[in-house]
Amino acid sequence: MLSLNFAIFLNLRRLSVSDAELPGVLRQARAEYLAGDNRLYLCAAQPCCDQVRFDNSEITLETASREAGLTISKTGCQGPCKQAPILSLRIGERNQMFAEVATEKDWRAVLFAAWDAMS
Ligand code: FES
Repeated sequence: MLSLNFAIFLNLRRLSVSDAELPGVLRQARAEYLAGDNRLYLCAAQPCCDQVRFDNSEITLETASREAGLTISKTGCQGPCKQAPILSLRIGERNQMFAEVATEKDWRAVLFAAWDAMS
């Protein structure tokens, strides 16, 4: 059964999933999240995408991905929208969320942290 908070979260984002569908949806989301050894997840939902002040075009992200040596993926809302823009880094089974990553300098600092964590 969906928790009340999770049901509210889904409802606010106009997502509907039945109790019967939920386990499969969560399995699919987990498999996607854990794909590959290392990944950086860039929230591309509102309000995050409006507060980003660095180039997050597909071509720039592909270049950054090659340079940093990890997959960079855009995602939907990651939850803490009040601290937008949000990025999440997964190195193996370790996770770190970064808040208020707005400027080019912030973005480069996160990429350096990712590179450093993989070293
Ligand atoms: S919109 Fe980015 S964390 Fe919610």
